[in-house]
Amino acid sequence: MPISNANMLRNVPLFALLDNDEITALAEQMEQQHFWAGQMIFQQGDPGEAMYVVHSGAVELFIRDRGGERVVVDKAEPGDLFGEFSLLDQQPRSASAKATQETLLFVVDRTDLQRLFAVHPDAAFDMLAMLSRRIRSTDALVSERVVATNPNEAMNTRLTINQRLADLFAMIAGDMRFVYLSAVWFAVWIIWNLGIIPGIEPFDPFPFGLLTMIVSLEAIFMSIFVLVSQNRQAERDKVRNDIEYDINIKAELEVRALHDKVDVLQELMIQHLREMNSNVVRLQTQTGTSPAVKNSDLG
Ligand code: CMP
Repeated sequence: MPISNANMLRNVPLFALLDNDEITALAEQMEQQHFWAGQMIFQQGDPGEAMYVVHSGAVELFIRDRGGERVVVDKAEPGDLFGEFSLLDQQPRSASAKATQETLLFVVDRTDLQRLFAVHPDAAFDMLAMLSRRIRSTDALVSERVVATNPNEAMNTRLTINQRLADLFAMIAGDMRFVYLSAVWFAVWIIWNLGIIPGIEPFDPFPFGLLTMIVSLEAIFMSIFVLVSQNRQAERDKVRNDIEYDINIKAELEVRALHDKVDVLQELMIQHLREMNSNVVRLQTQTGTSPAVKNSDLG
């Protein structure tokens, strides 16, 4: 096994606690897999029993949302890990992985990880740090997608000219300046047509038939525009509710999945600490020194 593999693994935070011999042994026993640019490494939903360390190349991790849209959740570069969820909780792959360049990966299986935690339980904190990083990137992704699916933007891109006109007229009708302007217009019209101003000839004398007809037509059209605009507002509310529902479901599922993973990791750590403690107790009994912490104190 070339020394470069061991050097490469030394830069991975999870293996940072290993000494030279341990890292060389790990590099020798680890299987390597090669992928061409564009080749799938695994699909979301596949069974997964290993995680991967990127030796060279680049990997894209993505999911398909309910609308079939491809969402990139992370990118893994040399030294990065991925595929740890399934290794820890033995559930199907939560995302698909694809090599975006020619890529070489180290395969880390459950036995490798158990061996690592048995020798260096503190390495489990690196796993926890990585899971925290994943939660953070998911939080960022969720908040970005809220902006990306702004219901107003989503609706405005699909507006017809008629709907835009209806919105414009409804906006004008709902403006107080329109009310004041109409009041001034009616007042001028009525005073003009009452025939009380010398030299001004009425063109629509009392009972102002022309004005009545114009105002009735205006009222009919305005109410139609307002109704069209209200329908659009109702549609927009529906889109907003759907988007909020999707986001809540996604966030809830992600949080639940991450809770499960942290529980599994905690269980693993406690199990290893128990084993270590039993070994220490055995040694102390043999050598007759003071007793270690009881296993029951570990939870
Ligand atoms: P696993 O579920 O085994 O396979 C897909 C991998 O993609 C997963 O492990 C994680 O390593 C990674 N992954 C899944 N979801 C996210 C996420 N939300 N943010 C970052 N990485 C993720």
